[in-house]
Amino acid sequence: MLFTPFTFQNGKTAKNRIFKSAMEEQLAQNDQPSEKLVRLYGTWAKGGAGVLVTGNVMVAESGKGSINDVVISDSRSLE
Ligand SMILES: Cc1cc2nc3c(=O)[nH]c(=O)nc-3n(C[C@H](O)[C@H](O)[C@H](O)COP(=O)(O)O)c2cc1C
Repeated sequence: MLFTPFTFQNGKTAKNRIFKSAMEEQLAQNDQPSEKLVRLYGTWAKGGAGVLVTGNVMVAESGKGSINDVVISDSRSLE
């Protein structure tokens, strides 16, 4: 069962039911995703989980929960 696909109500399908829940990474640098954060998600992706939920990613600086949270309030870090 764990390795069977799961289709969400919005029609998106995860390839398996392994789900990494949100965890506060605290790996931003000047509010932007750091190389360490990108590498972490790359490593998790290679691990094969069907769903990776991000930790705190704020859409406004006023919403930061900690000093090293990512803030994406413009297009700088979209790539
Ligand atoms: C943005 C965000 C960040 C989170 N960060 C952490 C974290 O750093 N450590 C943690 O144990 N849970 C964190 N949580 C909660 C977990 O994602 C998860 O909901 C919680 O551990 C309960 O999981 P369970 O229902 O499977 O027991 C975070 C949740 C959100 C929404």
